[in-house]
Amino acid sequence: LRTGTTDFYTVTMSRTSHEILPGRRTDVLTYNGSFPGPTIRARSGRTAVVKQINALEMPTSVHLHGGNNPVAHDGGMMDTIAPGRSRTYVYANKQPGATLWTHDHAHHMESEHVYRGLSGLYLLGDAAEDRLGMPSGAYEVPLILRDAQFDDTGAMVYTMDDAFNRTTIMVNGRPWPYMKVQGRKYRFRMLNSSNLRIFILRLSDGSQMTQIGSDGGLLPAPAPAPVLVLSPGERADFVIDFAQYAPGTQLVLENLIGPGPVEQVGKVMRFDVGEKVADPSRVPDVLTTLPALAKPTVERTFELQMDEPETGGHQAYINGKTFDAKRIDTEIRWGTTELWTVTNKSATIPHNFHTHLVQFRILERDGQPVYPAEAGWKDTVLLFPGQTVKLQLTFDSHRGVFPYHCHMIDHSAMGMMAHMKIT
Ligand code: C2O
Ligand code: CU
Ligand code: CU
Repeated sequence: LRTGTTDFYTVTMSRTSHEILPGRRTDVLTYNGSFPGPTIRARSGRTAVVKQINALEMPTSVHLHGGNNPVAHDGGMMDTIAPGRSRTYVYANKQPGATLWTHDHAHHMESEHVYRGLSGLYLLGDAAEDRLGMPSGAYEVPLILRDAQFDDTGAMVYTMDDAFNRTTIMVNGRPWPYMKVQGRKYRFRMLNSSNLRIFILRLSDGSQMTQIGSDGGLLPAPAPAPVLVLSPGERADFVIDFAQYAPGTQLVLENLIGPGPVEQVGKVMRFDVGEKVADPSRVPDVLTTLPALAKPTVERTFELQMDEPETGGHQAYINGKTFDAKRIDTEIRWGTTELWTVTNKSATIPHNFHTHLVQFRILERDGQPVYPAEAGWKDTVLLFPGQTVKLQLTFDSHRGVFPYHCHMIDHSAMGMMAHMKIT
């Protein structure tokens, strides 16, 4: 439904039986019966009103990851929808076009809820982007990557912090799919919705992709991408020109890293290239202009830490503390630009760092300027063991209490999460 400046959506959360492994069924949690959830297409500058009906037997909360929204519409972990009730979230969409994500955020349940399927893409389009003439319609394809574990009956299994057994890789809810593509350019809107798995992706013939956007919108200029690195919650917007391959070519999107047998976790999907077709789409040399960065006036440090597996503990910390819903960890004055230095203190475990409310810029990683693919608006940043990133954030939109956390959400469930209050 649409009115002058507002689009209306209704979503029902329910438990559904679904075929993931061929010929076998499993219960999953769905938005509108679909696994993963349906892609919501919204427009920058138009308000989206999303009524969420919770037809499940447990509380849920719907967070728009990457969205700039007030506390009441952020889908906070304590601000849940009781079973049988509904909640209407209003998103003003006052931000540039971007690949955003709606997912569950109910405290202590989000890692299982997201794993079981409460997860869907929210593509925010805008007019400036439309004018660029990039591939669209059937040639703009969402790719939601994740892993999962299944038992012998084909049922999806969730156990906390168990990446080693999640060795089935799915794209848009299907294990190791293939896609028939025409010989022309395609734009892919990719999200890593895994709880823990990091993907480092390349094409099997070694050819380059072209990254055009990241979490919060387009990059200033297209960046040649020999690999795409996506930790949980990160997005990549990229183009592949299949006209450069002979018809009949099979290209595998390979994954270079991660727990599990390489025959399974080392591949993600396959593109079967068809005949060349006319291609009116373009990828211009200039995609957008990022605003100049204001000078930061406040500096803070954040240390991400977790009990290592050998110590047997299941506690995770930011600056030495596990999450306490009643504690405010960081007080921020509205209007301030801050410089945050975030370090992963774990010796063997990667983490990432996600902030609600704001899109930030990554200034450097281990003292070096970041690659072009990471130079745009980000809300989630990967930190391999021992790494440090410097982030610049400006808090000039909504006031209130918002979380920041590791988005390897089994870790945030163990306490690697904290609250900031903007006043
Ligand atoms: Cu996708 Cu609290 O985040
Ligand atoms: Cu978020
Ligand atoms: Cu973590």
